[in-house]
Amino acid sequence: MATKNEERIKRLTETHNLPREDFKQLLSTLTDDEAEILYAAARRVREAVYGKAVYLRGLIEFTNVCKNNCYYCGIRRDNARISRYRLDDETILDCCDQGYDLDFRTFVLQGGEDPAYSDARICNLVREIKARHPDCAVTLSIGEKSEASYRAYFEAGADRYLLRHETANPEHYRMLHPPELSGENRKRCLKTLKAIGYQVGAGMMVGSPGQTLDYLVDDLMFMRELQPEMIGIGPFIPQKDTPFGTQAQGSLEMTLHLLAIIRLMQPDVLLPATTALGTIDPIGREKGILAGANVVMPNLSPTSVRGKYLLYDGKICTGDEAAECRRCMALRIERTGYYVAVDRGDHIAVQQS
Ligand code: 5AD
Ligand code: FES
Repeated sequence: MATKNEERIKRLTETHNLPREDFKQLLSTLTDDEAEILYAAARRVREAVYGKAVYLRGLIEFTNVCKNNCYYCGIRRDNARISRYRLDDETILDCCDQGYDLDFRTFVLQGGEDPAYSDARICNLVREIKARHPDCAVTLSIGEKSEASYRAYFEAGADRYLLRHETANPEHYRMLHPPELSGENRKRCLKTLKAIGYQVGAGMMVGSPGQTLDYLVDDLMFMRELQPEMIGIGPFIPQKDTPFGTQAQGSLEMTLHLLAIIRLMQPDVLLPATTALGTIDPIGREKGILAGANVVMPNLSPTSVRGKYLLYDGKICTGDEAAECRRCMALRIERTGYYVAVDRGDHIAVQQS
């Protein structure tokens, strides 16, 4: 006889949704055996849409200067203990050229909210990357901007934008951020990005301080409504020089459960096995892929600055050259029975039944 959770997994697979209370039950009572059933269902769905391909995104962390002061983040404005850097445009473009030779067909420019990179400068960078590598997608991950800025980047050729919503619950958002930031504005940015035509990435940390099961279900409901093309989730990991430096880290199992649930809710979503997941477990990213993830984002930043983009403590891959990470990643993915795809890995829209 099927257990209650097995029935929930079946219903989630068939209808892509569950009542709120069932999500809570699933998240709080799933046994190890049931988790294996959940992961197997997520793999089937993912393989039906994307086959065995795992898509690569080359991450270029171009500045660790940030005007914001999020309580969880190691590059927050008030952290005086990190050494700040900014990559110049030529260095950023070099990273892309190197990445291209290593089979990357998506470049993600990620940074703190750093006023030194004006809209004009970002637009020039985007245009130059697209001119050099017309077969590549450019993704920006540079925080909250005005609609006019988002439009300008899009017109310059940016294809995608990553902006995690962090938590869909307004009260929880206030617990994680200083008063000048609001969940409302974050959601408005995401809606604007979608309306402009970007492929959008949302997402949240798992196990961030104050997070409850109810808040996680709020996240699932929010993403169900937004239908982002990508969803980035990873465990919260404390960074010792932040206000949350002594808080507990997020759970591996909870992250894997959520990856699989998100895959079942949105069969065609692009779902990265994140660096944070690889940081809390030596084969966390592999476990993520086996729970329904289909994207990995190795780092293309120069090794000289890698160790300075420390959002959290213990971050992996900080000493490795881009080429080493690329090789290591291919081996890891192949060991899980999947393969690295050499293409842009665009979102495939699947009509939901
Ligand atoms: N632990 C895990 N993830 C973090 N991020 C920021 N700080 C931490 C942390 N301490 C995540 C946020 C952000 C993304 C770039 O990194 O969700 O959106
Ligand atoms: Fe970076 Fe393994 S993926 S060293």
